[in-house]
Amino acid sequence: MAVASPVFAPSLFRGRTVFVAGGTSGINLGIARRFSSLGAALFVVSRSEDKVATAVAELRHSGPADGAVADVRDFDAVQSAIGKCIERFGAIDIAVSGAAGNFVAPAAELSPNGFRTVVDIDLIGSFHVCRAVYPYLRKPGASIINISATQAFTPLPGQVHVCAAKAGIDAMTKVLAVEWGPEGVRVNAIAPGPVDGTEGMARLTPTSEHRERLTQTIPLRRYATLDEIADTAVFLCSSAGANFNGEVLVCDGGQSVLGGGGFAAAWASAAPG
Ligand code: NAP
Ligand code: COA
Repeated sequence: MAVASPVFAPSLFRGRTVFVAGGTSGINLGIARRFSSLGAALFVVSRSEDKVATAVAELRHSGPADGAVADVRDFDAVQSAIGKCIERFGAIDIAVSGAAGNFVAPAAELSPNGFRTVVDIDLIGSFHVCRAVYPYLRKPGASIINISATQAFTPLPGQVHVCAAKAGIDAMTKVLAVEWGPEGVRVNAIAPGPVDGTEGMARLTPTSEHRERLTQTIPLRRYATLDEIADTAVFLCSSAGANFNGEVLVCDGGQSVLGGGGFAAAWASAAPG
């Protein structure tokens, strides 16, 4: 359920439209909820018709919302979803690209198609979203947020596909920021560390032992909350974040401040697979 933000004014995004790829669960739905609670119209997209319907029904409790089924690997499907959003709400002010796939697999056991699948969803899918939404963005003042991960710069065993895909997202974010910044379109990314209550962490730290070891590598000694990641997105898209462009904002409780070594070592000794 969308809960009013204790920090941002409730009408901050009134009259704005936010398109969220992968916005039907977890972190991305958390972001959609927060923008909805701040007055924005929401359009969410993912592969599952049921997940889209459930997310839209929930978001309609806090404001205008709609959605479409699309696989971000299919550029035509992404374009069609964006067309439906424009038809419904007239414009797009903010696009969040967060669809992703993750599983743990050592490189020597990962098939080429397994590697390709994650790169296709995370990196190529994010390019599809950015590329397809760009012509429709209401500019200036428009913003794109790509959802990265600290794997982009922390080489975790069993995550070669994810590390490569997210590093690509960071590089893409910076290039698009340079190309589109002059028109007033800001492109930034958020790199969360471990986030509580998510499918991603259920896959990466499935037991309490995994979770405890990972938690000990985080200076704040806890995972981030969905609201903390959502508020990071809100900040970047608000006037408070108006001079951020090409930034990959890390939100990980200080885990990466210590360098990737401790994280990778604790991960390797605890990781499934
Ligand atoms: P999640 O709940 O599984 O969210 C993934 C979303 O993407 C779902 O809505 C899913 O819905 C959609 N999706 C997956 N494949 C898709 C595709 N091919 N086309 C369109 N939509 C697709 O996972 P999460 O853990 O919240 O992760 C969300 C984002 O945060 C990801 O980008 C992830 O890499 C990033 N992240 C997560 C963590 C963490 O701690 N969980 C940490 C760092 C970064 P459908 O199944 O209906 O398609
Ligand atoms: N270990 C090793 N390889 C795996 C794997 C695992 N756990 N899961 C899938 N793969 C491989 C498959 O074997 C296949 O390769 P192959 O054809 O050589 O056998 C390839 O990945 C594609 O798998 P498939 O199941 O056809 O892909 P999909 O497109 O249906 O689903 C996934 C994509 C695999 C990423 C799936 O886990 C997914 O939909 N995830 C979305 C939710 C998620 O991951 N959330 C967390 C986000 S951080």
